[in-house]
Amino acid sequence: MQIEFQPGDYREVVCDLLAYPVFEEESREFSSLKSLDQVTRGAVKSALASREFSPEIHHTCRICKPAGLKARNLLLVGAGKKSSFNPAKLRELAGTAVRVAKSRACKNAAFFCRGMLQPRLASRLAAEGALYADYESGIYKTRDNESGNVDAFQLLFGRRTERSEAEDGIRRGIITGEATNCARNLANEPSNILTPSQFAERAAAMGEKAGLTVQILEREELEKMGMNALLAVSRGSEEPPKLIILRIKGQEKRPAASPLYAFIGKGVTFDSGGISIKPWEKMEEMKGDMAGGAAVLGAMLALGQLRPRRHVIGLIPAVENMPGGKAAKPGDILKSYLGKTVEIISTDAEGRLILADAIAYARKLGAGRIVDIATLTGAVAVALGNVNAGILGTDQRTIDLILKNCAITGEKLWQLPLDEEYRKAIRSEIADIKNVGNRTAGAITAAKFLQEFAEDTPWTHIDIAGVDLDTDGRPFACKGATGYGVRTLVSMME
Ligand code: BES
Ligand code: MN
Ligand code: ZN
Repeated sequence: MQIEFQPGDYREVVCDLLAYPVFEEESREFSSLKSLDQVTRGAVKSALASREFSPEIHHTCRICKPAGLKARNLLLVGAGKKSSFNPAKLRELAGTAVRVAKSRACKNAAFFCRGMLQPRLASRLAAEGALYADYESGIYKTRDNESGNVDAFQLLFGRRTERSEAEDGIRRGIITGEATNCARNLANEPSNILTPSQFAERAAAMGEKAGLTVQILEREELEKMGMNALLAVSRGSEEPPKLIILRIKGQEKRPAASPLYAFIGKGVTFDSGGISIKPWEKMEEMKGDMAGGAAVLGAMLALGQLRPRRHVIGLIPAVENMPGGKAAKPGDILKSYLGKTVEIISTDAEGRLILADAIAYARKLGAGRIVDIATLTGAVAVALGNVNAGILGTDQRTIDLILKNCAITGEKLWQLPLDEEYRKAIRSEIADIKNVGNRTAGAITAAKFLQEFAEDTPWTHIDIAGVDLDTDGRPFACKGATGYGVRTLVSMME
């Protein structure tokens, strides 16, 4: 998709579909729509009066061959209440416009930002939303996709806009939009294609292209290092484990003055549960149990191009969790990379095992601030549904920053507590700690387990088990992996 700044007047734009956001208030306070209504000889007023169009968010109404416009179609896009508008909504509105354009085979679409935000931010968000919406997950269909792609997307502003500002925003939006789609693509890949080895190979190829340093630790090295928690998870599988390490050199001259940031993403390419095997229903969704790892890779690819101030490393422990003759079993005890001993109660609580070793190793590499992201617990989805990710940790400054960025990233999060009292649920009789608590507060006890390995290094944990997969589809996106976390991690470093 070609995304372009269009400095001209909306009446003069030649395209297949011109999207024009309309707020709910404007159907009563009509004055701001008057010029569009006059140009189109009353088409707007009549669409509203006949109730063919209601400006509720993401409702749309297409007007064919509109009078007074060079666009073949005018698309009124409901923008919801002005009072509940935030920047993230603009991304979605642009996406809705692209989805409609796709469904109508409109190859050349335009979107009118109407001066809603500063052009630099607006163009970034609209570009992100357009790429997000253009993405399709039916990658293995042998017959042609019914919905084609949008080839060109023009952005109009409705206020005086410097070309350089708009184009800089578009450039950034393309970087994060493509990185998000890359993460979605990896999570949508089936586990027979995206094995840990294939994940590592793709990370190396894409990482090097984006200017990152990539290192892959193989099984032998992991064994020598004593990464036994990570290794225990992969032991039941024929697929060898990989620890993917990505490095970005920040622009900062004196990095010693600020901490090294580490992103850690859970990379379980398939989670069968292992010996504690899962029931069959929805087990196919466990091909996406590496969504956290994909988010880290996506964010690192974007940051490699955006060049943050700080140095960042990304770690992705990639394994397949399978039952097998050599698999870890409930009751087994292992010595983790940090040295703490762990009693395995359920082999299905595997994410925290691989993250434990990755967190300890990140600290060994000098990380001073750690953010991990993982499809860690069904419990977080019970608590927060598919609306908010859970966020917990000891690094309240970073948590506050991430929560503040939500209005722009559109990736909602809700903080859960980490009180000391929750620790006792994972006390083991025989080892330092066990990998499962009781039936209650599962998202929190999982985080408490990780905290044991972060110790006093400032650490943030994001549990995306409820939000990594969209099984319904949205007006601005196809069903499937959401790429959740890419924008959160990128915006945090920016
Ligand atoms: N990958 C799952 C968590 C998950 C569940 C992600 C549903 C997405 C959708 C994780 O490895 C897991 O199995 N967690 C267990 C933990 C339990 C054994 C303590 C769970 O949530 O049931
Ligand atoms: Mn599991
Ligand atoms: Zn899992």
